[in-house]
Amino acid sequence: MAGTCSFYWFAVVVVFAVTGTQSSRANEDPLRQTIQRLFDKVHSLQVKRDEPYFPPLFWEKHKGMYESDVKFYFHGRPDMTFLRHAFKVYDNNMFATTWITSSLLEAYKFGNGPKPSEEQIMPAVAFLQDYHDKNRNYSNSLMSFWPQRYNTTSKTWTSYPDNLHNFFDLAGDVNLTKFEKILVDLGFSDITAIMERLMNIRSVYLNGFLLPPDFDDTFVNLGLGSLLISMAEDFPQSFQQWRVQNTNISSIFDALKRDAYRPLSKDYAVNIIDERTYVFLRFFLNKLQNDGQDISLIPTWVQNLREEAVWEPRGVHIPDYSNNVDVTVAANGVFGITSAILNGLLEPEILNDPELQQIYLNTSSMVGFMIATNFSDRHELALLYYPSEFEFYYFVARTYAELRQFSRKAPLPHPIMTTVHDYLGESLKTEMTTAIYNSAVYDGDNMIYFDDFLGDGDLDVDNNTVVSDQ
Ligand SMILES: *[C@@H]1O[C@H](CO)[C@@H](O)[C@H](O)[C@H]1NC(C)=O
Ligand SMILES: *[C@@H]1O[C@H](CO)[C@@H](O)[C@H](O)[C@H]1NC(C)=O
Ligand SMILES: *[C@@H]1O[C@H](CO)[C@@H](O)[C@H](O)[C@H]1NC(C)=O
Ligand SMILES: *[C@@H]1O[C@H](CO)[C@@H](O)[C@H](O)[C@H]1NC(C)=O
Ligand SMILES: *[C@@H]1O[C@H](CO)[C@@H](O)[C@H](O)[C@H]1NC(C)=O
Ligand SMILES: *[C@@H]1O[C@H](CO)[C@@H](O)[C@H](O)[C@H]1NC(C)=O
Ligand SMILES: *[C@@H]1O[C@H](CO)[C@@H](O)[C@H](O)[C@H]1NC(C)=O
Repeated sequence: MAGTCSFYWFAVVVVFAVTGTQSSRANEDPLRQTIQRLFDKVHSLQVKRDEPYFPPLFWEKHKGMYESDVKFYFHGRPDMTFLRHAFKVYDNNMFATTWITSSLLEAYKFGNGPKPSEEQIMPAVAFLQDYHDKNRNYSNSLMSFWPQRYNTTSKTWTSYPDNLHNFFDLAGDVNLTKFEKILVDLGFSDITAIMERLMNIRSVYLNGFLLPPDFDDTFVNLGLGSLLISMAEDFPQSFQQWRVQNTNISSIFDALKRDAYRPLSKDYAVNIIDERTYVFLRFFLNKLQNDGQDISLIPTWVQNLREEAVWEPRGVHIPDYSNNVDVTVAANGVFGITSAILNGLLEPEILNDPELQQIYLNTSSMVGFMIATNFSDRHELALLYYPSEFEFYYFVARTYAELRQFSRKAPLPHPIMTTVHDYLGESLKTEMTTAIYNSAVYDGDNMIYFDDFLGDGDLDVDNNTVVSDQ
């Protein structure tokens, strides 16, 4: 047991060794040098070959992916701060890699950032092929956040955080009573309480997260494909690879039509929503009801209640069982559809389908309404999965930028896109811009910063507050 304990402390030390590489290509301009260093650092964190799980020091990793970690919410006294910085579980998921790859491509395309090599983009795209929903016997582009493992008993693929499972298996083997006594002897009394809490939520991690695919990862993958088609001359192999992995894009829209949230529908499978969603969305819903309008919205999960009844016994279901709407996920959906049409990955005629037209238009209206009404005063509920309001603004602005850029050169390819352009533009130019101006904090003569969702609850040894930095 003591051996296992020291492994933990060793692991804590190891994660401090952050890699940073210097590039010889950066020229004299300090800003470009900084950008180049960031670019090199991101590249250095891309996994170069598959690595198996080797307890307890090495997490399972897959070629092409970028590092992404599960962190825990330790804060307060110095030992807690220490643990927050030191402790993390390497997470295998498709979102981080898709998002980082898209950002690298966009920085090059729009921002004159360093050009990534095909050798960097290609393995990241290939990595995603394992994340298409495997519980369907047809080719599809419905994406799962976590890797899927086949369960021979239930004959079902289940998607779960494999390294977290490894972590809890390992922690389950440790004699906690003994471990806690050691921690208390070392003066880490708060941590033992946290360890206990962590072990109590173990079942949530092990049984609660057996996820169906979701529209967020699905549309982020579609957005990546749209970028790649627009840069196919620069990255021909990467685009080809994406194309080969996504031969049935209409599977996304079949699922969207089946699972969209329709509050006024008579069908129980799609008219029920998570209560957290209802609380922030109710002003929007009430307004529509007063206007006598039917609506349908992009939800988070690719599963409705009827499907859940079939899949839950086999181990695939939404956490807490009811679907929800997250404004940032919805914004990613609007971006995916917009960008795929404008870059020629999808035909604009797809929006002639009345149901899809409605989902696209209504989701855009909802996003605009939420910006216009300060997310109807419940940021923490509207931003369920992405706590940053600035990130939400950024995702919406990306969509508007694509529409605007296109419309400068030619008419938008579908009239409904003009409506979306006008609607998003209005809330971005007024309420969003005002909100961003108002949240700037002036610090000294030449410094402005934006304080987002990260807390400042850390204390020093005398219990005085500190603003902790890296
Ligand atoms: C695919 O699955 C469906 C539903 O389980 C089934 O009806 C159909 O026969 C299957 N098709 C093939 C080609 O296996
Ligand atoms: C496989 O599925 C069965 C039945 O749903 C479940 O009891 C079991 O825990 C699953 N096995 C794993 C390794 O997840
Ligand atoms: C764990 O350690 C405590 C204290 O050393 C001991 O009393 C207890 O029996 C141990 N439990 C197990 C399951 O080994
Ligand atoms: C594409 O997906 C749909 C379901 O969305 C399915 O019915 C169809 O068979 C798939 N087509 C191919 C070629 O796999
Ligand atoms: C919702 O979609 C319907 C059908 O396209 C449209 O008539 C209605 O104006 C939309 N409502 C909102 C708020 O977007
Ligand atoms: C916006 O809503 C949040 C609650 O989520 C509140 O704290 C904040 O004061 C509101 N801002 C304005 C300008 O009303
Ligand atoms: C800090 O607060 C903790 C818990 O409230 C208390 O036990 C401790 O004595 C305090 N330390 C100092 C230096 O005030």
